[in-house]
Amino acid sequence: MADHSPDPVPPPRPTSTPRFQGRVAVITGAARGIGRAHAVYLAREGCDLVLCDILEDLPDGTPYEKATQADFDETVRQVETEGVRCVAVKADVADPVAGRDLVERATQQLGRLDFLVANAALTLEGKLADMDPVTFATVLRVNVNGVFHVLAPALKAMTAQRRGRIVVIASGAGRKGEPEAGPYVASKWALIGLAKTAALEAAESGVTVNVVLPGPTDTPMMDGPQRWKEAVPEKDNPTRADYIEAKKDATPMGYAWVKAEDVAAATLFLLTDEARFISGDTLSIDAADVATWT
Ligand SMILES: NC(=O)c1ccc[n+]([C@@H]2O[C@H](COP(=O)([O-])OP(=O)(O)OC[C@H]3O[C@@H](n4cnc5c(N)ncnc54)[C@H](O)[C@@H]3O)[C@@H](O)[C@H]2O)c1
Repeated sequence: MADHSPDPVPPPRPTSTPRFQGRVAVITGAARGIGRAHAVYLAREGCDLVLCDILEDLPDGTPYEKATQADFDETVRQVETEGVRCVAVKADVADPVAGRDLVERATQQLGRLDFLVANAALTLEGKLADMDPVTFATVLRVNVNGVFHVLAPALKAMTAQRRGRIVVIASGAGRKGEPEAGPYVASKWALIGLAKTAALEAAESGVTVNVVLPGPTDTPMMDGPQRWKEAVPEKDNPTRADYIEAKKDATPMGYAWVKAEDVAAATLFLLTDEARFISGDTLSIDAADVATWT
């Protein structure tokens, strides 16, 4: 029987023996949420990190708060507590040169590149019939072009050294439609095709490329007064608890959302040596929602 309390499951913790000592990862969108969980999990495994985030330069109009410098500082604090090296960069992945810069920081400042977690994304919402082209293009430019901008130089470096792992964070929304989330849905479907193509192009080198599909996840993207009101429109000032109650059937297991740490734990497996023959695949972390579609 599912427990519908605000924190339904304690987040999993990685193993006590560090598996990624001396390795280096680039993670985009790491100021908070799923990106931060990845940073902390990789740091606990001994991995040095290059992190980036756009912070307050996120385009206006998202149905949730922008990340702040304090958020990013908190990620860096948690990572450095684990005793690893961390380079934190304010950058917009939609800028074509940003991805190359992140990869160069890994190889030049930290000496190598082993992993890329392409996580940064945003959503701007509304019905397609009423949406202006700039809004649509903004989401695609960050969520798809932004992944390409860092994936391409990472792929080049990794295939040359014949070693590396890439994980693209898409979404369950990349396998179905979702009203009022048209550009986001389109972007996440696109990422699956992009990653499968990259997996084929990298296959001969042994580099793997996979896609992680989170279901609804407890992060700032899905939290805050606007999200609560969307879920409980009949209430004047709904709370987070109201949201969780209203959304408890969002997944077949009966949870409103999974935790960012659940997503990071799945990514971690795809980065291990044991996952060397898993490439071009998708892995859903969505409390059985994946079982409702093909
Ligand atoms: N939360 C969910 O329910 C959910 C579900 C499925 C997939 N996802 C995906 O997981 C990933 C992380 O989402 P989250 O829930 O942690 O969201 P979030 O908004 O809490 O975190 C995303 C981070 O990315 C940063 N970012 C956005 N645009 C950027 C850009 N152009 N350049 C650099 N950084 C940028 C933001 O500032 C933010 O810190 C995203 O790819 C998202 O689409 C989330």
